[in-house]
Amino acid sequence: MERLQKVIASCGVCSRRKAEELIQEGKVKVDGKIITEMGFKVSLKNNIEVDGIKIQQQDKEYYILNKPRGVVSTARDDKGRKTVIDLIDTDKRIYPVGRLDYDTTGLLLLTNDGKFANDLMHPKNEIDKVYVAKVKGIAKAEHVIPMQNGMVIDGIKIAKAKVKVKKTDFKTNTSIVEVIIHEGHNHQVKKMFEAVGLEVLKLKRERIAFLTLKGLTSGKYRKLNAKEIKQLYDFVNHKK
Ligand code: URA
Repeated sequence: MERLQKVIASCGVCSRRKAEELIQEGKVKVDGKIITEMGFKVSLKNNIEVDGIKIQQQDKEYYILNKPRGVVSTARDDKGRKTVIDLIDTDKRIYPVGRLDYDTTGLLLLTNDGKFANDLMHPKNEIDKVYVAKVKGIAKAEHVIPMQNGMVIDGIKIAKAKVKVKKTDFKTNTSIVEVIIHEGHNHQVKKMFEAVGLEVLKLKRERIAFLTLKGLTSGKYRKLNAKEIKQLYDFVNHKK
């Protein structure tokens, strides 16, 4: 027997966090009864319905996408905008592992494996997420050091980041800065720069753990291969 939210996520319906919201909202039934108790124990032998649809175990799929600008990284969008799911040809109910902003480009993983998504997103697993930002202004030590020391953003203490200034251009008054973090707070990288007085003009995620965008132009995707999936599992199980 497992916790209800875990079973829902393991069937690829949504992330565990989203499953908790659906349970709280009374949208989940077990054997015909609405369950709002968090942590209610079930197995797949129970008849579990989410929004009136019976959940079933699915084959797991794992994708890496080079997200273009102007696409939302949620499974559905209230405003009817194009989503990252629209870019991938699958009949499985996959969803993104974490989010990239509408105007952020780069590496996004998508899966219907709830545990995998949850583990990859958890900061305790210290998975490197490598971002490259083009910022307005000349990035100097006074900007970089606070980011390296850990800052408070929206009242939350965030962990130390690895920060490297890759290029400065005095003509255009811009800089290219690489930032490596393990967390994924909302708009984290943009807010970190904002806090030190630099505006982000462009943001791209170039790497997650050992995965890069090699061979994937903007908007293109591929399935992860078995070796990559195993390596990621080993990463989150600390068998690096
Ligand atoms: N940080 C941001 O500010 N935006 C993203 O899309 C990802 C990380």
